Amino acid sequence: MAEQSAQLHQGVRLQKVLAATGWGSRRVCEELIAEGRVTVNGEVAILGRRVDADVDRVEVDGAPIGVRPGLVYYLLNKPAGVVTTAKDTHGRPTVVELVPSEPRVFSVGRLDADTEGLLLLTNDGDLANRIAHPSHGVEKEYLAEVSGGALSAGQLRQLRQGVELEDGITAPARVSQPEAGLLRLTLHEGRNRQVRRMCDAVGHPVTRLVRTRIGPLFDRSLVPGDWRELTAAERRLTIEAVAESARQYDSPS
Ligand code: URA
Repeated sequence: MAEQSAQLHQGVRLQKVLAATGWGSRRVCEELIAEGRVTVNGEVAILGRRVDADVDRVEVDGAPIGVRPGLVYYLLNKPAGVVTTAKDTHGRPTVVELVPSEPRVFSVGRLDADTEGLLLLTNDGDLANRIAHPSHGVEKEYLAEVSGGALSAGQLRQLRQGVELEDGITAPARVSQPEAGLLRLTLHEGRNRQVRRMCDAVGHPVTRLVRTRIGPLFDRSLVPGDWRELTAAERRLTIEAVAESARQYDSPS
């Protein structure tokens, strides 16, 4: 009883905290709470709940949302030749050198040094783990230029249905060929060098690989080497995509 009363009087109102992270107006956030979709430290929150953004764990539809002050989310267009690891033994430039050095951020998942395109960098560990989850992370889209000319209908079907790699068969993927030797692939999995290995397996090695989308995040105007902060709406869409993906993959089939 005393605890509940404290929750109602200390901290910042939950709808205000949610609204500040991009979940919509305070009114919309009040509705989310009233619908029972918001938990604080694992308990369904009631209207009037206040939270301490530094210590309380807030989730919407089971997905943690970064409400701590100081969380940053950068969308970077990684150029080829830049490595995703924090330090490179060969002295190559790293992605963290392309964004502000404070607060310290890390990349969500990896792109090969030769791969170009979108990479998310953040200091929000919860969200990062969920996006990069190897089996139920959000879907990612790639454009791959391959050698050997046009793929046959059979080779495209193989890529879509699954190809045998040394670490197992790949999950179903969406694959199209907008022009001969150019593939658009949408994958849910995120195995090491997966697109390159899939294309190798059908006899068309990748000559250029660009990631064009991470879940709801894309930006055709971001030039290689440039970055920008996610908008509040993009943060919300990303959290929703992660929650939806986890629901899809965790539910028994
Ligand atoms: N697949 C690859 O082969 N490389 C990447 O960098 C990303 C996906």
